[in-house]
Amino acid sequence: MIERRLTHSDPTTNDLRKSYDEIPYPNIATPFTHISRVAAIGRLRGVTPASPGGCQVLELGCAAGGNLLPMALQFHESRFVGIDLSPVQINMGREMAADLSVTNLELRTGDILELGDGDLERYDYIIVHGVYSWVSSEVREKILSICRDHLHENGLAYVSYNCFPGWHGKQALREMLRYHTRRIDDPRKKVKAALALLTAFPTSADLPDDPATTLVQRLRHDLENIDDPVAYLVHEYLVDANEPLYFREFLDRVEASGLRYVDDAFPGSTALDRLAPAPRQWISETFTDDSEQQQYVDYFCNVSFRRSLLCHSCLPLEHDVTFDRLQPLYVTATCCREDSEDGAPRFRNDPGRRFSVEHPGLQNALERLVDARPASISVAQLRDVLGNDVADDEAAAMFDSLFRNASVEFTSHPFCCTLDIDERPYASRLVRYQSAAGTVTSAAHRPVGLSNTLEKYLLQLLDGTHTVRQLITSLRQRLTPDKPITDAQWDALVRGHLSRLANVGLLRSPESEPLP
Ligand SMILES: C[S@@+](CC[C@H](N)C(=O)[O-])C[C@H]1O[C@@H](n2cnc3c(N)ncnc32)[C@H](O)[C@@H]1O
Repeated sequence: MIERRLTHSDPTTNDLRKSYDEIPYPNIATPFTHISRVAAIGRLRGVTPASPGGCQVLELGCAAGGNLLPMALQFHESRFVGIDLSPVQINMGREMAADLSVTNLELRTGDILELGDGDLERYDYIIVHGVYSWVSSEVREKILSICRDHLHENGLAYVSYNCFPGWHGKQALREMLRYHTRRIDDPRKKVKAALALLTAFPTSADLPDDPATTLVQRLRHDLENIDDPVAYLVHEYLVDANEPLYFREFLDRVEASGLRYVDDAFPGSTALDRLAPAPRQWISETFTDDSEQQQYVDYFCNVSFRRSLLCHSCLPLEHDVTFDRLQPLYVTATCCREDSEDGAPRFRNDPGRRFSVEHPGLQNALERLVDARPASISVAQLRDVLGNDVADDEAAAMFDSLFRNASVEFTSHPFCCTLDIDERPYASRLVRYQSAAGTVTSAAHRPVGLSNTLEKYLLQLLDGTHTVRQLITSLRQRLTPDKPITDAQWDALVRGHLSRLANVGLLRSPESEPLP
């Protein structure tokens, strides 16, 4: 029988430092930590944190700072501090910040456990993503006490963690991978052996209901779609510490620390709205307490990961969204159009669920948003599209239901991007810089993998000085296609890639980029 300590031992600081120094975590942006999204959700719930345009932000366990860097470039009047155990990752981040002349981002090597009051100030936003479940119980406690002691009065903390019941199944898979690789010390050899096991594991179509088959297939799918599968496998599955917990248990710890749960940073992943009508009705009628309802959503949907927003326990929170709190925000579609047999407008939301909208004004508003996607539209502008027969609070409830259904998102600031292919197309300094590595950050703070070498070269040229024709000429000189391509095909190819880059939020106007 596998020993319990294989999954539940507290990691030592040295072991963790060594493992992240040897295999750094993917250096990418984490969308739901973006302070413009966090600020918007806080506002909807009645908390008014400082504007992202002039605030102080702390990220604990920031790795190489790939999450803070795009925000520091976007909000140059704000100050960002990132702290991580691993000097290798911190040095990588400092190098990037220096290359891009970023002066409002400070990256420090440090152990969360050792941070004293003198090391920290007060922050409007504290981000702790992908850390809480992977550290010792002392560090977990310290994370919450730092949030309590170092958040400004109206500040918001974002803490993500692995949770049950979703992790019960994954735990079995993790234990199998750790058991299979228990005699191997070298982390890269461990990953190789784990990947070989996952590849060899029999998951044929005649075993569809086999629980292990489902788990292995899901992990294979995750690994195919992830930026850095090696780092993910090491730090999520093969690592010593990975302590998931139930949402309700997390809340108990939050409340014991003098903090309060505000909402999920991605409400579409945990809202009642994600359930089918019958369980949704049963939960809402059976449990009146919000947190109890949330716990049952986790049971029904087998939720395995949560992103919780926290504030000081003394702050009052609002349950219903009012129009005055919504009005200053921006909306962006995260759903897309879906063909329907009867020709009636249908949409598909972020997790892939199909839905239609009955109210004609709301349908118009959603059509507008989908056409503008990935750019944002202000709530004030959209309000007019809903029609005058809709009362303000009714309008707020309609927008809120789209938000909880993962069809739109709210931000305090618009995403700066354009769908137009200008005569001289432009991508931000950050995107051009990141393009060499193959994953870039969109205007909506999402990591975007580049599809091929042409896209990498193309992005590097988008400094706003080249016409589309000049771009085509440069790419023709630089790339040697496998088979001859005609002028018209080159033209279509480059324009096609420019369109794709625009559609994922990588093009903008040069004037919209703050000066370094
Ligand atoms: C799974 S990674 C997540 C990195 C990043 N937040 C992200 O999500 O992309 C966890 C990070 O936490 C850092 N870490 C772990 N324990 C720490 C501690 N006690 N003090 C500071 N950083 C720590 C690790 O070095 C690592 O970079």
